[in-house]
Amino acid sequence: MHHFEYRDKRLYCEDVPVTSVVEAVGTPCYLYSAATLTRHFQAFSEAFEGMERLVCYSAKANTNLAVLRLFCQMGGGLDIVSGGELFRGLKAGFPPGRIVYSGVGKRADEIDFALEKGILMFNVESIEELKLLNERAKTLGKTAPVALRVNPDVDPKTHPYISTGLTKNKFGIDTEAAVEGYRLARSLSNVQIQGIDCHIGSQITESTPFKDALKNLVGLVDRLNQMGFSFQYIDVGGGLGITYGDESPPLPAEYARAIVEALKGTSLKLILEPGRVLVGNAGILVTRVLYRKRTKAKEFVVVDAAMNDLIRPALYRAYHGIQPVVRASRETLRADVVGPICESGDFLAEDRKMADVQQGELLAVMSAGAYGFVMASNYCSRPRAAEVMVSGDRFHVVRPRETYEALIQGESIPPFLG
Ligand code: LLP
Repeated sequence: MHHFEYRDKRLYCEDVPVTSVVEAVGTPCYLYSAATLTRHFQAFSEAFEGMERLVCYSAKANTNLAVLRLFCQMGGGLDIVSGGELFRGLKAGFPPGRIVYSGVGKRADEIDFALEKGILMFNVESIEELKLLNERAKTLGKTAPVALRVNPDVDPKTHPYISTGLTKNKFGIDTEAAVEGYRLARSLSNVQIQGIDCHIGSQITESTPFKDALKNLVGLVDRLNQMGFSFQYIDVGGGLGITYGDESPPLPAEYARAIVEALKGTSLKLILEPGRVLVGNAGILVTRVLYRKRTKAKEFVVVDAAMNDLIRPALYRAYHGIQPVVRASRETLRADVVGPICESGDFLAEDRKMADVQQGELLAVMSAGAYGFVMASNYCSRPRAAEVMVSGDRFHVVRPRETYEALIQGESIPPFLG
């Protein structure tokens, strides 16, 4: 459920016509619906009613401060993967005690930052990281709360680039090594074992991989309990998919049932790290048609958003619905929707059956709230798009379009070049 709908042929975000936002900020622009974000968070969290839980929004999906603040105000925690995300999370107001830190490559300075702030838990992904964490904590006179991220070796059946729970992936520690890891953790002076963690991948559209992963994890917890270890938290990661086109992923309630069922009999507090499911369908990317163009082989719709604005189609051949902002009755067309960048991979849609749109028209690229702006770059010196948040009949520019000056900020020409 989201709040992007047509009223009298015009696309609205909540009570704001998309055209009004474009008049104010131009294109391309990202548009987020606060009501949708709120609803998604509520639905997700309420699905686990009765369980002691902390919903740690996975910041990487959309790190705009406004989005972070909204989830913070709703009582959410934060899943971070870098010092930069910690910085943003703190700016948005998250108490450090609600932040968990995952990632295979935490640097010493990032570890120090998180130790100084006193985050809830480090999800440790290697034995070497565990040792470094202990050393840094000792140096700073702190104790690091840890969980080991276990790689449960299940196939999440998603795009290989976003599958993370197979032993061929770089993530986590496999089950046997995790037992050794916990033994080591117990012997280290400045780490404290708090929990166990896993995350198997993203855009997962079935419950089974989650069930299988948790079965492995709970089995491991039992084994470790028998060895005298005790855990407060189980962090089940994120990964629940959304509908971009014809997928029908489990609803939060069904997903929650699978998890609650798998955890039956344990008294662990639940940590969840949803990203996409909270923000994906709460955002769109609005772009303008620059040109129509036909070659001998194909029809093209050239728009002013490109792979630097939304890289998912180019990177994963991901599908995003594309629809006119103002509807009219017209013919359909089969075309590639492409951006201005000098690469053939620069497309938002390939061979897409769509409305016969005209030069100058506005198009909405749907389901762009997750892994959209956050993966944007300045490739081809294209300023990054504006971001706008709507709430009811109000909207606010939560990040203005970058200026040309911003593109060169910090750069300098060395004196030896004159
Ligand atoms: N927790 C950890 C440790 C993660 O690595 C991720 C995502 C999440 C939680 C959140 O997963 P979600 O609920 O959003 O599926 N750029 C890709 C997605 C990469 C996901 C990386 N990790 C895309 O555009 O599809």
